[in-house]
Amino acid sequence: MNNFEFENRTKVYFGKGVVAEKLPVLAAGYGGKVLLGYGGGSVKKNGVYDEVTGILKDAGVEIVEFSGIMSNPTLEKMQEGARLAKEQGVTWILAVGGGSVMDCCKSISIAVPYDGDVWEEFWEKPGNLDFDPLPLGMIVTMPATGSEVNGSAVLTNTEKHIKTDRDYPRMNADFALMDPTYTYSMPLRQLRAGTFDILSHIMETYFSFPIEDNVSDDISEALMKGVIRDFRKALQNPEDYEARSNIMWEASMAENRVIKMGKTKDFEVHNMEHQLSAYTDCNHGEGLAVLHPTYYRHIFRDGLGKFTRFATNVWGLNPADYADEEELALAGIQALEDFIRECGLPGTLRELGVDESTDLREIADSCYTAGGAFREIRQDEIYEIYKECF
Ligand code: NZQ
Ligand code: ZN
Repeated sequence: MNNFEFENRTKVYFGKGVVAEKLPVLAAGYGGKVLLGYGGGSVKKNGVYDEVTGILKDAGVEIVEFSGIMSNPTLEKMQEGARLAKEQGVTWILAVGGGSVMDCCKSISIAVPYDGDVWEEFWEKPGNLDFDPLPLGMIVTMPATGSEVNGSAVLTNTEKHIKTDRDYPRMNADFALMDPTYTYSMPLRQLRAGTFDILSHIMETYFSFPIEDNVSDDISEALMKGVIRDFRKALQNPEDYEARSNIMWEASMAENRVIKMGKTKDFEVHNMEHQLSAYTDCNHGEGLAVLHPTYYRHIFRDGLGKFTRFATNVWGLNPADYADEEELALAGIQALEDFIRECGLPGTLRELGVDESTDLREIADSCYTAGGAFREIRQDEIYEIYKECF
């Protein structure tokens, strides 16, 4: 294991009925005035909004509503929420939704107490978050990003065509309430995309140094097998509580920093997807599904030992059936691609809805690259990958 520091300050309350049980106590504790952040209205259809607002009112909390947080939340939307929170003098924030709602509310939690330009100071470049954000709670309705248990928030600056995240431990929510039954109402498309996002977070961590045996990779393999198994079960029966609760915790485990300990990490597919999304507003999990197999066919020789381990330990392939390590590694990547197809996810940029006239060169040039985990990839190669994905 490489050296590491571990910190996670979010208190998680997990399980069926957890909102009804815990929110009254938490709400009474935070009191005052809350900014209630939510998205395009799914919470009104599935009853979550009524339940949450009822509990807040009973606890004597004044509610300031901030609705319409879109998927791939924009800087403008976040600024709108921060203005509202300041004008109304809210004392805490409660985010109810998926990653987009949680990220937007996290960003608001630091934009309210900070007088400067948060985009320039905390997103455009890594900043020094040396003040306390506004207290923040999450009620998760969609497991995918793991935003409920980390300090990361992704924003899109539409003017500059940049979608980027930063992870500040101080931006972790104070608490997260996670009731797996809240996820039953997720549309199938979101279940597919969210599940693939979870798998992607694990792979982006797993496919990096060290290649040698380490606890983080061992946990990652168990999580990947779990995600594949539980997605198949949830597809058969959307109200399979075991499957739904496992998926919800797998999403958190993938992003609560545990499996990242001692790892260099990659996240180049995320960087490529974020810029694709900055230009096309595509769905995050679907964009990742398109890019992963092609990227891995570019880099597998540079981390061959890890790719063969993926093929055998995650997909159950038998090394004896393959002529050499490269063939085995490629079969593992093919198994991943087959799973993407089985999920009903898009396999090409065309299927993702990217228009032929889209300037892939410009998007590739706009990509921030962290240098790659096994090998450095640069804009020219990113452009090749985009073209091959079309
Ligand atoms: O907006 P509403 O009406 O709530 O509907 C949402 C939205 O349309 C719907 N939904 C969520 N829970 C539901 C539900 N519909 C019915 N029943 C439910 N229980 O699902 C749609 C997608 O929601 P969204 O929050 O956009 O999805 P996701 O959780 O995938 O979040 C995506 C955003 O998170 C960023 C992505 O880039 C993207 O901007 N990410 C955040 C990360 C982080 N903070 O750590 C890491 C990720 O890698 C990712 O980049
Ligand atoms: Zn992701």
